Amino acid sequence: MAKPTQVIGIVGSPRRNGNTEVLVDEILAGAKEAGASVSKYVLDELDVRPCKGCFACEKTNRCVQEDDMVELVTQMKASQVWVLGTPIYWWGPSAQFKAFIDRWVSIGREHIRGKRVILTMPMGGGSESYARHTLGMLEDVLDYLNMEHLATILAPGFGSRGAVKNAREILSKAHKAGKDSVS
Ligand SMILES: Cc1cc2nc3c(=O)[nH]c(=O)nc-3n(C[C@H](O)[C@H](O)[C@H](O)COP(=O)(O)O)c2cc1C
Repeated sequence: MAKPTQVIGIVGSPRRNGNTEVLVDEILAGAKEAGASVSKYVLDELDVRPCKGCFACEKTNRCVQEDDMVELVTQMKASQVWVLGTPIYWWGPSAQFKAFIDRWVSIGREHIRGKRVILTMPMGGGSESYARHTLGMLEDVLDYLNMEHLATILAPGFGSRGAVKNAREILSKAHKAGKDSVS
């Protein structure tokens, strides 16, 4: 029997049960329904320190910082689909999420190439344009690393904790994106 697709969800918001987590959960639920094995990590509850920019990893493909990113990288390598969620903070990603993606520099490109990615971003402002810089940055990163960008789920106009739970259309889009990501 074929091994189930592994899907990893990353929650970049420090607010538990907030909109980012609701969206990531819904995408993971869709993937699970399609038979995937799913896991979820909340960055704020992990020790993921910012990149030191030392480039020691260029030779070793390993970061000099022995923090929770070690386990996270193991799980990311083992997963075929990455669900990446960050709230929009000042038109950008959260600090936790930026620290997380900066640390990808230590992962050999061969372990990242071809990963299938779903992006999701809630924002308090009522226009998707609040996410334009973050989305543009992430699209460029995915393209640079030869990853496959499957879908983006944006949720504008949701400021309070978990408010996106009532947005049926966005949640069904999120669920479908998760389901469709499983091969
Ligand atoms: C520090 C900070 C900065 C924010 N900046 C923006 C912003 O630039 N644009 C926007 O639309 N919402 C902004 N928001 C609102 C959040 O994006 C919104 O509340 C979102 O739903 C938070 O997601 P969460 O519930 O997963 O934490 C900001 C919130 C915080 C705490």
